[in-house]
Amino acid sequence: MRLEAVQRAGTYAVKLDEAVHKFGTDDLLPLWVADMDIAAPLCVQEALQRRATHPVYGYTVYPERYYQAIKDWYFNRFGWKIETEWIVPAYGVVPSLNFAINAYSKEDEGIIVQTPLYPPFSDSVRRQGRKLLNNRLLYQNGSYQIDFADFEAKAREAKLFLLCSPHNPTGRVWNKEELEKLIDICLANGVIIVSDEIHADIVFRKVHYVLGSFEKVQQHSVVLNAPSKTFNIAGLNTSYAVIPDRRLRDAYLHEQKKSGITNGTPFGIEALMAAYEGGEAWLEKLKVALWENVVFVKTFIETHHLPLKVVEPEATFLLWIDCRGLGLSTENLAAFFIKKAKLGLNEGVSFGEEGEGFMRLNIGTSKEVLHQAMQQLLRAYEERK
Ligand SMILES: Cc1ncc(COP(=O)(O)O)c(C=O)c1O
Repeated sequence: MRLEAVQRAGTYAVKLDEAVHKFGTDDLLPLWVADMDIAAPLCVQEALQRRATHPVYGYTVYPERYYQAIKDWYFNRFGWKIETEWIVPAYGVVPSLNFAINAYSKEDEGIIVQTPLYPPFSDSVRRQGRKLLNNRLLYQNGSYQIDFADFEAKAREAKLFLLCSPHNPTGRVWNKEELEKLIDICLANGVIIVSDEIHADIVFRKVHYVLGSFEKVQQHSVVLNAPSKTFNIAGLNTSYAVIPDRRLRDAYLHEQKKSGITNGTPFGIEALMAAYEGGEAWLEKLKVALWENVVFVKTFIETHHLPLKVVEPEATFLLWIDCRGLGLSTENLAAFFIKKAKLGLNEGVSFGEEGEGFMRLNIGTSKEVLHQAMQQLLRAYEERK
């Protein structure tokens, strides 16, 4: 598949229309927020167009076909057999994280997260008045590892662990042994695990293990997911929670009901069904093309001897780049990218202080856009020398 960057001007895209607000200028190439410039698969476009031709866009239920599509996707892709009643349709993964926090912990109780990390995790813990227990990931020999001794110590004072699997922004896919260890520690300490697996479908050369597929933790965990990153339909509210345990499910549902959010949108429901039923071949091609983008960026950096290091991504269309070789302070690094290279990336520090000196680059775009971005980066670096 050749990745074409669709022009998004005029669609109120966050990536474009919030760039001025975020970077203080619109004179840059935006490569930040985590959606892609790539058209959604044809089966999704057609399903939405079909639905749009019906002129009534009223309240909509989640049909049996919706649940079946999720169950089939999980079974066929991950070998996890789930029951219909375990599935709870949701507004978004981030709202679900908040419902889970409220359902499974009380004020001031401890919740473990692993930084550097997608910011809404830590933000949600703080906003809900819980105690943030930060199990910092260790950056060793160019890859991120879990500090299990620290995790075990934190688990003793925790109620909940918010796992990001695969992990954003480091691109780690946690292997079976790592997950088993985390599970065992949590079970031994009565810690419930909420696993955000929104990036589970875009995994390179590794196997993603769904947390709930580990039998022993099934009754003590929640899996959150959506086809939103996978099929580039993040604006359609297509997420859901999978909660096998009835007690945990009821507690979660109680919080969701308290929020007042109930119905899904007709377009989100159509998009999920179409994507999961007919989007698999497209996804496989997308993964190959995204990996080519990874290789392109890495090769460009190496060939031109830029003092940057791409952390080997095992998942996601987000590249975590170690820019400490540039020798710039946090402020100057941001200014270098925005003002000199004219590139809008996510600053590493926004993912926690461990992200200092890193930048996150969204490669979910065409080779041409990436080529342009790398040329701008190279020029800025050479001018600086
Ligand atoms: C790990 C992770 N979780 C959740 C989200 C957002 O999910 P939602 O839009 O469903 O709230 C993102 C988006 O970047 C993400 O990277």
